[in-house]
Amino acid sequence: MIRVVVVDDIPSTRENLKKLLSFEEDIEVVGDAGDGKDGLEVTRRLQPHVVLMDVNMPGMDGITATEQLAVELPQCPVVIMSVQGERDYLRRAMQSGAREFLIKPFTGDELVASIRRVYELESKKGAYLPKTAGGAEGEPAPSRGRLVTVLSGKGGSGKSIVAVNLALALRAETSTRVCLVDLDLQFGDVGVMLNLDHAKTITELVDGESQPDWEFVDDVLADGPLGLRVLLGPFSPEYGDLVRAEHVRSIVDILRREFDWVVVDTASQLSEAALEVVDAADRIVVVGQLTIPAIKDTRLMLKTLESLRVERDRIVVVINGHDAHAVYDSPSIERNLKFPVRVQLPSEPRLVGGSIHRAVPVVVGNPDAELTSLFKALARSLDPAAEPASEIKLESRPQPGHRFSLRR
Ligand SMILES: Nc1ncnc2c1ncn2[C@@H]1O[C@H](COP(=O)(O)OP(=O)(O)OP(=O)(O)O)[C@@H](O)[C@H]1O
Ligand SMILES: [Mg+2]
Repeated sequence: MIRVVVVDDIPSTRENLKKLLSFEEDIEVVGDAGDGKDGLEVTRRLQPHVVLMDVNMPGMDGITATEQLAVELPQCPVVIMSVQGERDYLRRAMQSGAREFLIKPFTGDELVASIRRVYELESKKGAYLPKTAGGAEGEPAPSRGRLVTVLSGKGGSGKSIVAVNLALALRAETSTRVCLVDLDLQFGDVGVMLNLDHAKTITELVDGESQPDWEFVDDVLADGPLGLRVLLGPFSPEYGDLVRAEHVRSIVDILRREFDWVVVDTASQLSEAALEVVDAADRIVVVGQLTIPAIKDTRLMLKTLESLRVERDRIVVVINGHDAHAVYDSPSIERNLKFPVRVQLPSEPRLVGGSIHRAVPVVVGNPDAELTSLFKALARSLDPAAEPASEIKLESRPQPGHRFSLRR
């Protein structure tokens, strides 16, 4: 049984939700509350699997209550129910640590699907936790978080889209601590993609004489959606040069002590800073595309990594923007690159363009999209504790010509 607590200030809404959910055999509403404060108390007492939380309530509002729950009872995930609001409002809701959002009015089906999804993720979580947080039998727990560096041979191939959504997918799938670092030190896009108007960037960490400590780094990190922490790139290109390889090394060192995953977005050229995170990375995600120049550049990048003595098993190739008209298929790309392709992400101009325009990444704003499932599957495949999946295929709507597949 999925045990649910309903928090909403309008008694008739609470009754309606209870009635709706009473038709589901696997869902039981075990308690309810009329404001955030009561909601916290009821949740502490009943420890439900899922909390349904309204936003506007007298006294403590739903966002504040969600923020407190995320810290105090992270095992009780929150689904926020709100009316369509302005962007800032949605942003606060996203940053509060809520797992899902239902925009009122929503249907019973949407509600039930959302509850089941959150519940299933929560129960699967144990399986995907990196070894630091539980551990596979007999293996010593590593003291450092995993470093994932996203690279590409060619600019504009989707590194930032992949880095942002992969970091969020790791957060959503593993509920571990995830930090995203924008190491595109001149024209970094992570801040705009996440709509973060945060005053502090990596520049702060390289200004002083002394080495930064965690307290300082913590203060510089911005809060992104789903509880993701973000180290932004410099505000202006001329500051990029101030960040040296040794700075990157010490910052990444600190982050790996505090986070389970550190995902790094990079610029297209292999800068000194990028080489530092290539060297230290547990996984290097190489993002390529399906044009002749892009395939050539991906092959060159793979060759460069080989000459840098990066072991093959650290490299994950992702092909982005695959469309039905592409001349190449996976086997021919793999032959050309002499490398397996872990995942092909479809070209979705409206979805991806819309997500950039709204500054709400696909994984957050479109939880049901195929692209989201693929980012999540990619995230899970990076975790060595996860089941080795030979090929993960999407169940929904495969289109002719597309090969939405994921291989290990
Ligand atoms: N799967 C996709 N479907 C449709 N459009 C996409 C997809 N992936 C990326 N794009 C588009 O490609 C553009 C470039 O993506 P992105 O900024 O992530 O690339 P990048 O490699 O980080 O670029 P740069 O080298 O400038 O940092 C984006 O504006 C986005 O609209
Ligand atoms: Mg970029």
